[in-house]
Amino acid sequence: MIVRPRRLRSTPAMRALVAETRIHPSQLVLPMFVAEGLDAPRPISSLPGVVQHTVDSLVDEVRRSVTLGLGGVMLFGVPRPEDKDAVGSVGSAPDGILNRALAALRDAVGDDIVIMADTCLDEFTDHGHCGVLDERGRVDNDATNDRYVELALSQARAGAHVVGPSGMMDGQVAAIRDGLDAAGFTDTAILAYAAKYASAFYGPFREAVNSSLSGDRRSYQQDPANRREGVREADLDEIEGADMLMVKPAGYYLDVLADVAARSQVPVAAYHVSGEYAMVCAAAERGWLNRDAALAEAVTAILRAGADIVLTYAASELAERANGSN
Ligand code: PBG
Repeated sequence: MIVRPRRLRSTPAMRALVAETRIHPSQLVLPMFVAEGLDAPRPISSLPGVVQHTVDSLVDEVRRSVTLGLGGVMLFGVPRPEDKDAVGSVGSAPDGILNRALAALRDAVGDDIVIMADTCLDEFTDHGHCGVLDERGRVDNDATNDRYVELALSQARAGAHVVGPSGMMDGQVAAIRDGLDAAGFTDTAILAYAAKYASAFYGPFREAVNSSLSGDRRSYQQDPANRREGVREADLDEIEGADMLMVKPAGYYLDVLADVAARSQVPVAAYHVSGEYAMVCAAAERGWLNRDAALAEAVTAILRAGADIVLTYAASELAERANGSN
């Protein structure tokens, strides 16, 4: 026998030498929640280790993210229930929780980490949909895009480096690019949630943002059955001017991710979503698997499939490991 692949697996040093995929902190983005009206950070029961932050605790945590060398943070705002309305006004209000938090963050950490904002209405609408509704109660695509432009502009003004339209409206990237450029924000980048599926794995996130949604998002988010359509969505967003594309969820959509990564001219991100993270935590709590190893394997698989960037609730712990404590 001449060919023995096991030679390259014989020692830890040999395995490290030939590893094709590595987790580096600079390609990890930590999704974070900041809530109005809290005195102290509030744990999210379905997402162990993740909290709704106050503005102060958010700033502290992001300073830590800078020290860990994380690539970025993605910020979601959680308003008071009584401040929600049909068009999500508080989302684009300069004194709304998300924009105040963005301003405080940019003030505190400047350009030391990439500050990203979720550009969507669902956290701010009283009906919980990602857009505004027409008289028949359907999500109105073009009217929603007008609101996204206002939202993106308010986030750029507050200091976001990147806006992240996640509502899956047709034409949202082009509308936001036009709006940002017309207002002089030519350097504000767009991370487009390009292929976003109507997924059951967003379950814990709905608790994290105190979602008001009843019903589902299947008229705008994609059908999990469709692979080719994910590529089409990604192509469209790239043509519309997206600076980065995202596939979401990540782990169950590695085929879509690999397809998009193979043809995209721009960096591709993948979102290891709340349910993907929470399942590992829950199984580990029962002693059914090793939490650290399972999370590292999940993120390694996402990178191996072609992601340049991974959004994950495990970003800090993975960075700690990558920084040499392992
Ligand atoms: C919508 C949005 C969602 C997530 C990120 N942005 C929820 C949804 O589409 O219902 C889910 C993220 C996660 O599950 O971690 N603004």
